[in-house]
Amino acid sequence: MKAIISIKQKIQQNYTPLVLFKSIDALNEFRLNKNEIQYIKQKIKDNKQQIIINRYPNYLFLYHYKKAKTKSDDLENLRKAAASSLSKILEETKLRKVQVIDFLHEKECFYAFTEGVILADYQFTQLKSKKKDEQLQEIAIYSKKLKQADISKLNHIAEAVYLSRDLVNLPVSALPTPAFAKIIAEKAEESGIKVEIFGKKKLQSLKMGGILSVNQGSIDPPFLACLEWKPKNTTNKKPIVLVGKGIVYDTGGLNIKTGSSMEDMKCDMAGAAAVLATIYAIAKLQLNKYVVALIPATDNRLNGNAYASGDVVKMFDGTTVEVINTDAEGRIILADALAYAKKYDPELLIDVATLTGAAQRAIGSYGIVAMEEKAKTPMKNLKISGDYVYERIAEFPFWSEYEESLQSDIADIKNLGGAEAGMITAGKFLAKFTDYPYIHLDIAGPAFLSKTDSYRKKGGTGIPTRLLIDFIEKNF
Ligand code: BES
Ligand code: ZN
Ligand code: ZN
Repeated sequence: MKAIISIKQKIQQNYTPLVLFKSIDALNEFRLNKNEIQYIKQKIKDNKQQIIINRYPNYLFLYHYKKAKTKSDDLENLRKAAASSLSKILEETKLRKVQVIDFLHEKECFYAFTEGVILADYQFTQLKSKKKDEQLQEIAIYSKKLKQADISKLNHIAEAVYLSRDLVNLPVSALPTPAFAKIIAEKAEESGIKVEIFGKKKLQSLKMGGILSVNQGSIDPPFLACLEWKPKNTTNKKPIVLVGKGIVYDTGGLNIKTGSSMEDMKCDMAGAAAVLATIYAIAKLQLNKYVVALIPATDNRLNGNAYASGDVVKMFDGTTVEVINTDAEGRIILADALAYAKKYDPELLIDVATLTGAAQRAIGSYGIVAMEEKAKTPMKNLKISGDYVYERIAEFPFWSEYEESLQSDIADIKNLGGAEAGMITAGKFLAKFTDYPYIHLDIAGPAFLSKTDSYRKKGGTGIPTRLLIDFIEKNF
């Protein structure tokens, strides 16, 4: 459960105060005694920014602000500081109500600090039979700078991040394709997004051979969800189209994954989750942006009917693809959605996918591997948003030579490139199905963490939901 977030005009009793401050004079309100003041001064002198005043059973949690070298680092330091303070609060106190207090009076800084608290407070508890008392019930905010509109924005964004984390954390038994389709339909309806979900029959009539072949080994039907947010007075005429990889579980198929490499593969719909969460937040925020989200979904399993290496698949746009490895399934389902997206004449299309182990090996979990075609300026702006929300972009080259390894002897192309630069050849495969300004995001590294990293909890991170919301809000 997400904590209730509200603005309060006064400092509250019965809430644990978490205070962002720079000058010690700002703390007058708390009637500090001499010893406490001395203690705080000493801490500041020792470069200790996190300061805890124990007035058992009450506590005062303070964070002393120091400006970082860049804006990006400054805001990220604050998110992390808030996360670390929150874990101390949950450890030390019984009270599950926190008031985040702004004595710094810098809007962006305090926004980031509060965001850190909310994102760090996430827990995946849906499948626990006994709920532990490890989450906040309420987060009250006291600030002269943050207004109701800012809090409401923060709330919607947090809700979206929580949604995408939950979806990623649900195992396939709890989120097979029918359950996923149901949640997509519910979220769309709740937020006023137009939604159409193509089931197996419709995909057959559309000849979406990519999605259908990956689905052959499955007991659950595939789908392609098409969501459209188009309020009156949109600032962009042509839509921003988002496409998310929705493999609800990736066994590898007949090229079955070995060792522990299948362990976390419930995360293989993280792209779909982020894309759904993004359009959901944009609708909740009532942004006047024309946005479309396409989610192709199935699991990648094996039975007697499973697609096999050596098969040639005829895709939605007529391209024939020789399947070399059934574990390179993401690009096959995405290709149908990318070709289908042409009908929207996108101003820009961004796809999001846990696509390759190569991307994960290249940069780990600290950023998002990205490539672009005909989208230099959007890529530049996406990087700016990436630094701002700290879901950073690492751009890779997209030279035409990388395409060569996709040549097939018996079909138009094959679904596997050479041994090198696997994340780029995968991107090149996808680009063959596009004719519009295109950005490819490979989130295999940061989508799912094996251990908690500050406010990004173990499991689904929700990346790049915050990135996409910020980018769309600021650029169209
Ligand atoms: N879903 C995986 C990629 C992945 C790896 C996501 C690690 C998250 C963490 C994808 O479908 C896959 O299996 N890719 C293969 C492709 C290979 C067969 C060309 C890979 O990268 O190993
Ligand atoms: Zn795979
Ligand atoms: Zn996959």
